[in-house]
Order: sequence, then structure tokens, then C-alpha cells
Amino acid sequence: MSDSQKTAKVSFDDKELELPMYAPTAGPEVIDIRKLYSEGGVFTYDPGFASTAACDSTITFIDGDKGQLLHRGYPIDQLASKSHFLEVCYLLLYGELPTAEQLEDFEHRVTNHTMLHEQMQNFFRGFRRDAHPMAVMVGVVGAMSAFYHDSTDISDPWQREVASIRLIAKMPTIAAWAYKYSVGQPFIYPRNDLDYASNFLRMCFAVPAEDYNVDPVLARAMDRIFTLHADHEQNASTSTVRLASSSGANPFACIAAGIACLWGPAHGGANQACLEMLREIGTPDQIPEYIARAKDKNDPFRLMGFGHRVYKNFDPRAKVMKQSADEVLDLLGIEDNPTLQTAKELERVALEDDYFVEKKLYPNVDFYSGIILDAMGFPTSMFTPIFAVARTVGWISQWKEQISDPQLRIGRPRQLYQGKTLRDYVDVENR
Ligand code: ACO
Repeated sequence: MSDSQKTAKVSFDDKELELPMYAPTAGPEVIDIRKLYSEGGVFTYDPGFASTAACDSTITFIDGDKGQLLHRGYPIDQLASKSHFLEVCYLLLYGELPTAEQLEDFEHRVTNHTMLHEQMQNFFRGFRRDAHPMAVMVGVVGAMSAFYHDSTDISDPWQREVASIRLIAKMPTIAAWAYKYSVGQPFIYPRNDLDYASNFLRMCFAVPAEDYNVDPVLARAMDRIFTLHADHEQNASTSTVRLASSSGANPFACIAAGIACLWGPAHGGANQACLEMLREIGTPDQIPEYIARAKDKNDPFRLMGFGHRVYKNFDPRAKVMKQSADEVLDLLGIEDNPTLQTAKELERVALEDDYFVEKKLYPNVDFYSGIILDAMGFPTSMFTPIFAVARTVGWISQWKEQISDPQLRIGRPRQLYQGKTLRDYVDVENR
């Protein structure tokens, strides 16, 4: 954090405090309020952290007004069209695009860590057959700390590195096996001659009786979905990972916490909820009814895949996703897909509606991703696990950054207490 001469003055009661301000390389300036309580005796109040920067970071930057997403400075649309997922993983983890040699070494390391400890299969088999794959992932990823003891010491940079590679490498195997278990098919082992996305597709769709030939266009679309979801700054699940890790918890436990947070329908669960909503709408003629419900304050219904805390413009990932949806459906010969028609019409109607225009609600990354995944053959329950596979690198990059930050303190928010003040205990017979 660079020193700054600029300060902000805060005055209340008979106090006047001068607080330092810092300039970021991009985005709004920040006021350092760390001394507000010790010198002023007050807290700030910011439920949902709408105006609070909780850390320094050099990984990802979002300009919500412009609809811009940068990883280490590189725009997501360039990465989605010119790069591929493992190269983006390298960029997020180490800060720069790799040389050809560095990339080969990184891909080799990831590829050689994709197998799971054989005993971990017992974990999968312990779940009910109808368990949601996200429930399985939270459990199995948390359980990795019981299997990989040699990479849980967070004070050792080598162990941190091994844990990072293990998590990125094994997450597709865990997600694919959660799926296989849910459909009662045997687990398919990873293959080292396949790229990351192809390997994942094969582990999901091959069976021992018949191999699965991965279509390169589908593998490219899968890789692009992974790339578009790789990191997204200090979102809810990433902040969960950071908060969990601030106590010194091991990386597997922290990433399991991130998966748990991602599961919610306001976050990663929105892709599942969005496709279910599009199917419920069914045909474009039903759209006005759902738009009316989304605008009705007395109806909890929200247009899933619409709106974002940070983007007040198009989510740049949604644009790439829409294009990808067209490509994949075209390849699969799915013309006149009613869900895609409904989605496009819903987007058009919402973008012309005053409610959505005034509140700056635009399609987010989840609006079109479900249509692609559905066309590929994934059930809706696998949408959020796929998001978790992709976001693992973001969580790990942010976790590594935090662990090596000399300013790291345990995360401990304060509160605006609104409960009862001191009162005496009353014996049960007198209540
Ligand atoms: N449909 C209808 N109205 C909406 C929607 C929506 N999808 N999203 C926001 N609004 C309205 C709110 O009702 C609120 O109206 P008000 O000012 O009259 O009270 C206003 O827009 C602002 O919304 P907030 O909920 O305050 O915005 P917040 O930043 O807290 O929430 C969120 C963002 C959770 C993404 C929200 O837009 C939403 O629920 N969207 C649907 C779920 C979704 O698609 N989530 C995926 C997010 S992206 C991701 O995680 C990958």
C-alpha cells in the first residue's frame, strides 16, 4: 500500500479525526479507518460490505460501471478468446503470463496430480445416492485435509504450492465423481494425455463399457466456461475463503468453506436457478408475467441471472457466454432451442424495461452458462459444482496472496448491537 499525503476528515460530537487515504492503481480511493475505533471510539456500519475494502489485492480488478473485468491487467474477453484455462490459472497464481516452458511445466504438474487417494472413494460412497453434488464437494474437499497431511502447513511455502496444485488438479475429479455417484455409474479415472477440460468431460460422460470421444468444440466451450469463472475479486465465496484462512485454517478446509458459500442461489447457485426459471417460463409469451413478478415488491421472485453487486453495466462474461451458447447449440445441431429463445427474448424485454434500466440490472455470467451446460448433457445439479471447479484457482490465488501478506490479522467484523442491555437472570419458576 503506497503512502499518501491525502487525508479524509471525519467529525462527530466534539471529535475531529484525520484519516489517511490511499490511491489504488485502478478504482476508487480508500479511506483507512483502522484507527477510527481506537481514536474515535466508533465503528463503521456497512452490512454486505458495499463500501468496504477488506484487503489489498493485485489479482483481479472489476470496473462495474464500464463492465470491465481484468485478471492481472488482462481483459477477460481477450483471455477467453486467446488464452485457455490452465494458462489463466498460471496468470492468477503467479502474476504474469507464463513462457512456453513455464506453461508446459505447470500443465505437467497439474496433470500429474489429478488422481484422488483411492481411499477417498469410501467418502463418496458414504453419501446418500440423491445427495446434491455440492454437498458431496463440500464434504470431500474438507476431507482432503485428512488425506494430504504433507500440504497443510501454511507456514511452509512449498506445502502451500503443493496444496494449490493438488486442489486445482483434483477438483475436476471430485466434481465428476460426485456426478458419477449421483447417477449410479462407476468412477472414471483421469487420463494424463487429455487437457483439463477434455479430461473433465470424459470423467463425467465415459463409462467402462464405452469410451467417450471428446468433441474439441465442446472441450473448448468447457474450457471457456472454466476461464470465465476463474476469479472475480472479493465476491462472497472468495471473502469466505479469506475469512476462514485468516484464522490459519488449512487450505482444504478454507476451500471447502468457499464451496459452501458458492452454493447459495444468490451466488454460484444462480446458474442452476436460472435454467430452472427459464424452463418454468417455458415460452416467450409467458415473459411479461415473470417480468411483472420480478418487479413486484411483495413477490420474492427475482430474475435469476440478472443483476450484480458490482456490475452496473453488462457483465463482460455474459457477452462471451451468449456467443458460446450459440456456437455450442449450433455444433450440436440444436436449432430452435426453446430455452435459448426464451432467454434471448427475456434479456431483450428486461433491457427495455424501466425497472431494470433504472436499477442498472443486466444479465450476469449465469444467464447463458446453464443453457450451454444443459446442451452438453449436464443436469442442473452439476452447474454449481462446475463453477466451483473453475473458481478454485481464484480462491487459491487469493488465499496465497493473503497468507503472504505481512499485514494479515484474523478477520473479526464488529456489530451494531440492537439487543437487550444488561439484565439479571430470572429463575425458571419466576418467569
Ligand atoms: N430481479 C429483480 N430485481 C432485482 C434483481 C433481480 N435479479 N436483482 C436486484 N434487484 C433489485 C432489488 O430488488 C433492489 O431493488 P430496490 O432498490 O427497489 O430494493 C435493487 O435491484 C438492488 O438489488 P440488491 O439486492 O440490493 O443488490 P445486491 O447487490 O445486494 O444483490 C444480487 C446482487 C444478489 C446478484 C442480485 O442482483 C440478485 O439476487 N440477482 C439474482 C441472482 C443472481 O443472478 N446471482 C448471480 C450473481 S453473479 C455470480 O454470483 C456469479
